[in-house]
Amino acid sequence: MAFYIPEEKISEIQNVADITDIVSESVLLKKAGKNHIGLCPFHSEKTPSFTVNPEKQIFHCFGCGAGGNVISFVMKHDGVSFPEAVQSLAKRFNIELPTRDMSLAEQKAMGEREQILEVNQHAMKFYQNMLFQEFSGKPGLQYLTERGITKNTLEKFYIGYVPDGWNNLVQHLARKRISRNVMIKSGLVIENNQKTGYYDRFRNRIIFPIFSTGNQVIGFGGRVLDDSLPKYLNSPETLVYSKSSSLYGLHIAKPECRKTGTAFIVEGYMDLLALWQYGIHNAVATLGTSLTSEHVRILRGHCGHSGKVILVYDSDEAGLKAAARSIEIFDKEHLDAAIMVLPNGHDPDSYLFEYGEAEFRGMVKHALSAMDFLMESAVLKHGMSVEGKVRTVAIMKDYLANASDHVLRSLYIKKLAEKLNIDDSAIMEKVREAIQKKRTGNDRAGIIYGKNQQSTSRNEAGILFEYDRMEKKIIAMMVQYPEILPEICKQNILSCFENKVLAKIGVLILEQHEKGNRSVSSLIVRVNNPEQEKFIASLAIENSKWNHAGCLKLIKQFVLSKNKRNHDLLMRIKTAEAQNDDKLLIALMEQLRDQKKIQKKRESAGGKTL
Ligand code: UTP
Ligand code: MN
Repeated sequence: MAFYIPEEKISEIQNVADITDIVSESVLLKKAGKNHIGLCPFHSEKTPSFTVNPEKQIFHCFGCGAGGNVISFVMKHDGVSFPEAVQSLAKRFNIELPTRDMSLAEQKAMGEREQILEVNQHAMKFYQNMLFQEFSGKPGLQYLTERGITKNTLEKFYIGYVPDGWNNLVQHLARKRISRNVMIKSGLVIENNQKTGYYDRFRNRIIFPIFSTGNQVIGFGGRVLDDSLPKYLNSPETLVYSKSSSLYGLHIAKPECRKTGTAFIVEGYMDLLALWQYGIHNAVATLGTSLTSEHVRILRGHCGHSGKVILVYDSDEAGLKAAARSIEIFDKEHLDAAIMVLPNGHDPDSYLFEYGEAEFRGMVKHALSAMDFLMESAVLKHGMSVEGKVRTVAIMKDYLANASDHVLRSLYIKKLAEKLNIDDSAIMEKVREAIQKKRTGNDRAGIIYGKNQQSTSRNEAGILFEYDRMEKKIIAMMVQYPEILPEICKQNILSCFENKVLAKIGVLILEQHEKGNRSVSSLIVRVNNPEQEKFIASLAIENSKWNHAGCLKLIKQFVLSKNKRNHDLLMRIKTAEAQNDDKLLIALMEQLRDQKKIQKKRESAGGKTL
């Protein structure tokens, strides 16, 4: 990004943007002593290990190790750069960042993400204006009105329209001085095969802008006004739009999901608008894509881990299939799901317009649990012939084997037996087999997983974790017990550090302290490195168990261990000399020289002699 953000602005943002508030927007937090805990948004987990400490303004996940301050959280959560995170927080808290008109060169340098977001914003306004244009907007407005969409809904969702024509948007964006290159990167403009011309992706369509939870326009969907194909068209994946992690309507549904602990998931734009218009405000839509783990994790963040999701899918074959697939994902992500099956031929949109809200809410009460739904659809599909029953049991045995609650499992086995009018011991036997099979499969998976785990921690070791345990302990002490910093300074302890990264962190801690900037959160801003941010947050989240005497003891131990190293080195040099091992001798002499340098530095700074 092209402009500079003054340090005092970053401090100001850290002062006003409370980490608990910001995290709470996407993670349901519960108070636990000094901390708040919740389910980590960055990995899949069943029990909360994601921890926020309001006092220190940091977060740390004991499960996956993610950690940092409020800015690091926004960066990781929204997948944005440091300046982008700072900007978005500044905007939310009305902190003005110094900006000026950008030169052409600066414009070029501006992050591509921001450029695309800017194009999207222009496009959204353009399409919205078009819808309300007296002549050119008429077909669009007429279509939406005929489908029962009110003006209020149109405005709430910034719905727009683009008339027929190859370059309505291209021309508009050109007038806004947007470069061709950026237009194409936004996915809204397409270059022809010969690369001789450009044209609008969306033509003669109703336009649905898709928002991020931070209320930025990240993409669009467009529907034709007649029966032509494709009925819907979406933005392609861009730097700012990924369909596997976007949910239509979530930016509006967030507070209601939180309040009720539930969310409805529908399949389409029009379904979502219908629900909203009928007063059901905790709904989101997956857009022309099947539900992903990421979607579920995002929803869980808003509904909480004891929350519930209700899938409202079409009752056609495709809808049922999609529901069955989604159930597996909910299971994997440990979120309770129910399925609402609408009468044949209806989707949520058509159902609501025909029967209204009360009937719809009545249907919600009859939503099926995931297992009931699977059972019903299997029986429906395979029928009650002998072969049909065998098939149903074959399908259900795996689902039943997966059920983590044993009581629930045996209840469902009974239910299925009754439904199929067969003996439950036969089903039980099949389920037992499936469980057995699953176990051996898992064991194998466990070994592979273990291997992977090892290799990732080894990767990390290269960056930060391959150091003297004592050096790490000293840094932990410096973070957790700042009262010891003058002593660290006086004895010039950091100059003995062998790990350069740790030494650098130590120096930063001292510098920040001297400046009177004593919060962990501002230290995190200074290190400006994700691995190190995580490391510092993980140290700071621990409760301090230090006292002055204990600290002095550790420092003494550290100095002694360095002395011992020096002594060992001299002994090894003697042996190498005796054995005439020149190569080793040279290497050891070099080490000795380094040690002496460090020692000199320490002495000149008034530290004790090693
Ligand atoms: P449906 O075909 O069920 O559409 O597709 P719908 O929501 O009922 O739309 P209306 O009522 O005919 O206007 C459900 C969703 O699947 C995606 C869209 O997101 C749509 O809202 N879809 C559908 C596509 O992406 N492309 C298509 O061609 C069709
Ligand atoms: Mn529909």
